[in-house]
Amino acid sequence: ASVHDQKLRRGNGGELHQIAEDGHPVLTTAQGAPVADDQNTLRVGARGPALIEDFHFREKIFHFDHERIPERVVHARGYGAHGYFETYESLAAYTRADLFQRAGEKTPAFVRFSTVAGSKGSFDLARDVRGFAVKIYTNEGNWDLVGNNIPVFFIQDAIKFPDIIHAVKPEPDRGFPQAQSAHDNFWDFISLTPESMHMIMWVMSDRAIPRSFRFMEGFGVHTFRFVNAKDESTFVKFHWKPKLGLQSVAWNEAVKINGADPDFHRRDLWQAIQSGNFPEWELQVQLFDQDFADSFDFDVLDPTKLIPEEVLPPKPVGRLVLDRMPDNFFAETEQVAFMTQNVPPGIDFSNDPLLQGRNFSYLDTQLKRLGSTNFTHLPINAPKCPFAHFQQDGHMAMRNPVGRVNYQPNSFGEGPRESPRAGYRHFNAQESGEKVRLRPESFADHYSQARQFYISQTPPEQRHIAMALTFELSKVETPVIRERMVSHLLNIDETLANKVAIALGIDALPKPAAAAVETRQDLEPSPALSIIQR
Ligand code: HEM
Repeated sequence: ASVHDQKLRRGNGGELHQIAEDGHPVLTTAQGAPVADDQNTLRVGARGPALIEDFHFREKIFHFDHERIPERVVHARGYGAHGYFETYESLAAYTRADLFQRAGEKTPAFVRFSTVAGSKGSFDLARDVRGFAVKIYTNEGNWDLVGNNIPVFFIQDAIKFPDIIHAVKPEPDRGFPQAQSAHDNFWDFISLTPESMHMIMWVMSDRAIPRSFRFMEGFGVHTFRFVNAKDESTFVKFHWKPKLGLQSVAWNEAVKINGADPDFHRRDLWQAIQSGNFPEWELQVQLFDQDFADSFDFDVLDPTKLIPEEVLPPKPVGRLVLDRMPDNFFAETEQVAFMTQNVPPGIDFSNDPLLQGRNFSYLDTQLKRLGSTNFTHLPINAPKCPFAHFQQDGHMAMRNPVGRVNYQPNSFGEGPRESPRAGYRHFNAQESGEKVRLRPESFADHYSQARQFYISQTPPEQRHIAMALTFELSKVETPVIRERMVSHLLNIDETLANKVAIALGIDALPKPAAAAVETRQDLEPSPALSIIQR
């Protein structure tokens, strides 16, 4: 061995170090130059000015100054783990997706759980929706099922997403509240958006304060399509069912936990996995065709609706096990980029207008947050199957096309080619119609499923919903917003509405909100949009 080789040694993580005479690993600059003094900047005399030629100091401070990247615009606070998905039986009759072809096959996966509204440094037990984002590294590309722990969403059209998120995040003039929904802007928007009522009932329920990530359900929310090898399509809704069952905490417990340990959920996941208690979820699917979809009064393309599990029992098709924590929180959990449009052959989209908008948004936001089109080169985001394309260059390119040819077709017989048979084929749905901005009539019933959810709850759970609504609305300073919320509750459950109204000191009940909601295309403002004098 050369003299140089003798001075190298592997550290605990397998990394190579330069070794000092006394045997310890040598600190170096990012360029690899060994550092002699990491305690003092280079100065003219011990009390003199610092010298700009101190490249070690400059590099160290420069890099530190740039450590932060933007937090996610939503779901900023999250915690992830590695694991695998195991298929129970072949679903070849429904989908050609490779991960669903062979019973017992295991496919690597990464999951990130999150809260939606709070900042990265907020606390874990906020009353909020929880993100349940799953990346499965299949043999034919990554499949991202970017779901929540609630099976429906606030809005029907992605064009409203910036509005609801602005309303739920801190108010721009005062910068608070940081992590609670208890404020005028949020309830103002909700009360003017009747389509949110179903989701609001879930968010006011115990579902929004889970005991741990391990006791939560997950939902793909939208109707997707399975497409089989014969190009036949079946509609599908995805559900994750926790093996440990569902558990929540009570509100007064959540408040105490947040004070005592704001990291309660992440600590729970870390401790469970480190001690070998690997959390597990079963993937269950609701499969149906167009005739079945047409049998409902609501529209299966409307993300504020669910298909009752009593009507269409979900079919268990596999399990997800989380068995390894990331080695590095930033490299993996923070830099993981979920995108609804990441689907392998055999899984396709429906026309759900929220899903269609999400398919644009996620790619866009990853460029902003991770800073380079080459975020797919990061190990956590790269496929684990072979991949080959002619995309090249850009900031931080870690790999480029190999050889002379970076285009196709080419005459040199080089490089990858498209494959009509193996490649992703979008389902050949027949579409026609005028270009319009119009909400379909089939999206208009905003109260029936909210009512069904409320009625399905046990009496203590119903009490918790009434208490949550009372607490939240009691923080709203503008009386007309509270009254408008009560007018919606009257359409959901009269006893609930009365309870909340009395607790809020509203003596005269408002009229129930107009039940049929405008689906018109005209430009008249809705009558509900009375201007509030601040
Ligand atoms: C992030 C779920 C609707 C835009 C996320 C995350 C989840 C999620 C779980 C966090 C991913 C992670 O852990 O890294 C959902 C669900 C929705 C929904 C279930 C409705 C059914 C939307 C809509 C839009 C949107 C309508 C925009 C039109 C975003 C953005 C991020 C995000 C920009 C941040 C992504 C990042 O920076 O990594 N969403 N979302 N979402 N979502 Fe959604």
